[in-house]
Amino acid sequence: MRNRKIRKEKEREKNTVVPASAAVLAVVAAASTAAVVVAVTVVVAVTVVVVVVVVVVAVAVVVAVVVVVVHVVVTPLKAAAWKSEWMEYNGFHDEKLSKLSYWKKRYKDKNKVFEWFLDPDEILEPLLNNIGPIAGKTSMPLQCLDIGCGLSDLSLHLMTQSDQPMSVTLVDFVPDALQFQLRRIIECQQEMQVAPGSIQHLVCADTIHLPFRDGSFDVVVDKGTMDALLKDKIHGHFKATLMTSEVLRLLAPGGRYLQVSDEDPDSRLLLLERFILKSSFSQPIKEENKQNNSDERNCQGQLPKNYNLSSWKFKTITSKSGSEYFLYWVENLQL
Ligand SMILES: C[S@@+](CC[C@H](N)C(=O)[O-])C[C@H]1O[C@@H](n2cnc3c(N)ncnc32)[C@H](O)[C@@H]1O
Repeated sequence: MRNRKIRKEKEREKNTVVPASAAVLAVVAAASTAAVVVAVTVVVAVTVVVVVVVVVVAVAVVVAVVVVVVHVVVTPLKAAAWKSEWMEYNGFHDEKLSKLSYWKKRYKDKNKVFEWFLDPDEILEPLLNNIGPIAGKTSMPLQCLDIGCGLSDLSLHLMTQSDQPMSVTLVDFVPDALQFQLRRIIECQQEMQVAPGSIQHLVCADTIHLPFRDGSFDVVVDKGTMDALLKDKIHGHFKATLMTSEVLRLLAPGGRYLQVSDEDPDSRLLLLERFILKSSFSQPIKEENKQNNSDERNCQGQLPKNYNLSSWKFKTITSKSGSEYFLYWVENLQL
């Protein structure tokens, strides 16, 4: 009886102990689950924060690098390229404008008109006003030479706007420029009304040695060509002197040399006078001088007898864009 009591007692004890340890276990389990969850959450949160920080820093570094590269490398390069393009377009830079190789490359496969400095409509009126007095003196077609014609339409406009028939000879040392001019003449024959008797000739030649007889032209027009020669730092002045000499040789009595340039009169007028003076030295020695065994003309720096030039004059021409250019002219006064 007592034993049974004891057993019952133990059983009761057992029954009470089992639920107590289960609760503890449950609590422990819950606590460890919570700890794991907290730990995982903390790890995830820390990872997220680290990743976000790394991404933000990386983006900031990339942005900073891009900004630095753009400011330090790309922008200056772009500015330099733009400046060089602008300078090239405006004919400022460079020596290469005096080189045949440059013009050959530039005119290769070109089929669009390109005007240096000024469009024909900006310069035509002053040119025609200047030519007017010569035109009035002859009933023959006016002999005009466009020296270094390039891809310009100037001579076509001169022919269409002049009341008097004109024979225009276009000269350039680049065959492609003349091919282009030939295509233009054919193209414009229909649409442009030229005075009857007007005609164009195309001649490939160097301005410093022109294949025409003395006194063949009433007007020589040079739009930007001497400027191109003068870009040659070493030989520019020499070439310009030879060109001046050739142009003056070709001018008929009463004829005019008209030059369009962007160089202002302060420097250009002096240069032009100098080229004329120097060109007198580059004239061949005349037979009578050879016989006298004298070269007095050269020694004294006087112009040869066949030159009787007016002084250089100029007119300022403002382009549509507001830039200033200059028309210079000189007249062969010998009548
Ligand atoms: C500045 S561009 C002027 C082109 C044209 N007159 C115009 O107004 O658009 C100079 C031109 O002269 C030509 N040229 C330069 N040097 C020359 C030379 N020594 N002999 C013949 N032509 C030359 C070039 O081929 C080019 O067509």
